[in-house]
Amino acid sequence: MTRMSGHPRADARRSSRLATIAAAIAGSSILAACGSSDSVGPRPPIDTTTPPTTSALKDLASRRGIVLGAAVERYLEGGGATGALFRTRLTGEFSAVTPGNDMKHERLAPSQGSYSFAAADAIVAFAQANGMRVRGHTLVWGSQIARWVTTGTWTQEQARTMLTSYITTVAGHFKGKLLAWDVVNEPLNDDGSLKQNFWATNVGADYIELAFRTAHAADPDVPLFLNDYNLEYPGAKADAAYTLVRDLRTRGVPIDGIGFQAHFIVGTVPSRASLAATFKRFADLGLKVHITELDIRIRQPSTSADLTTQASDYATVVRACLDTPGCESIVTWGLADSDSWVPQAFPGWGEPLLFDAAYAPKPAYYAFADALK
Ligand code: G3I
Repeated sequence: MTRMSGHPRADARRSSRLATIAAAIAGSSILAACGSSDSVGPRPPIDTTTPPTTSALKDLASRRGIVLGAAVERYLEGGGATGALFRTRLTGEFSAVTPGNDMKHERLAPSQGSYSFAAADAIVAFAQANGMRVRGHTLVWGSQIARWVTTGTWTQEQARTMLTSYITTVAGHFKGKLLAWDVVNEPLNDDGSLKQNFWATNVGADYIELAFRTAHAADPDVPLFLNDYNLEYPGAKADAAYTLVRDLRTRGVPIDGIGFQAHFIVGTVPSRASLAATFKRFADLGLKVHITELDIRIRQPSTSADLTTQASDYATVVRACLDTPGCESIVTWGLADSDSWVPQAFPGWGEPLLFDAAYAPKPAYYAFADALK
């Protein structure tokens, strides 16, 4: 599981971290084991029942009114010892999951006239069996739309019907089972203009309003979110999102929340005061605030200074959420560094999450816990 960087200092650090993990899973808690960086002798069998801290993150979060989630893509079943450790961390530390890809259009509607709910249903069943919530992600997005849709030729009326019948079917299928729905994902460009994605082009600019109204009709009780990235910094995109959701609220369109994806680069996270002010601006519209895809990437190979900065960046995000009435959920985009989308999407970058590639808690994990306390 562990990827060696080829960088001697980083590799030595990872070897030492692996020794710590081995000690931790053999002992009663990682907090106890953290003081010991001695070599540990023969690797003990993996104890998948031991949580890394005496207080799980989800419990610390819950005491502060926060639902803590992780995006999941694999290992909900099988996967040998790694899969078992993944599930132990997931169910031990998190109270919610977001399917990383399994509730997207191309997965749910892979061919015309038929739906494929099995993988998404399995995630919901796993969550229910483990007392966890599920965030629906995502009903309407310009990416990961099934090819039969994007390669077809449609009249505006057909595109409208395709959008509404998809939402009605999918939101209806999961009715009553979700913590929230990301109804519209990433509708804005960084300059604040509306993205000319498949839906905007074929349905028209009112696809956003149509999506929220249709989702509400299908599942009136689930909170409905608009979700986007780069809203965390003051600027044209945050202003445009604010104007958009304020306009929707004013006109009675059923939108309940704003999702800040929060895909950050280490060392560039806004200050706690700035982030809290941004969150509050939206919360003051009566919207719930969820941090939906949090990760903080590091240029590889990392240094221990990077991991320390990352830890303090995570704490900043948690504190800004706690500063904001209405900020009620934080989801990290993946569980461990080995599961992240970052290395594939940003070659040369990685290690963005709370657990390392061997599922051991990183400095960011402890800073996250401290910030919740
Ligand atoms: O499923 C195919 C598989 O059959 C094929 O063998 C493999 C080869 O590369 O690709 C697989 O598809 C990949 C898919 O993830 C499933 O793993 C795609 O290449 C890959 O591009 C896709 O990336 C996903 C990305 O969305 C697509 O935009 C990431 O896993 C997913 O984490 C990411 O999530 C998005 C959120 O939905 C919205 N916000 C940004 C976030 C990060 O990009």
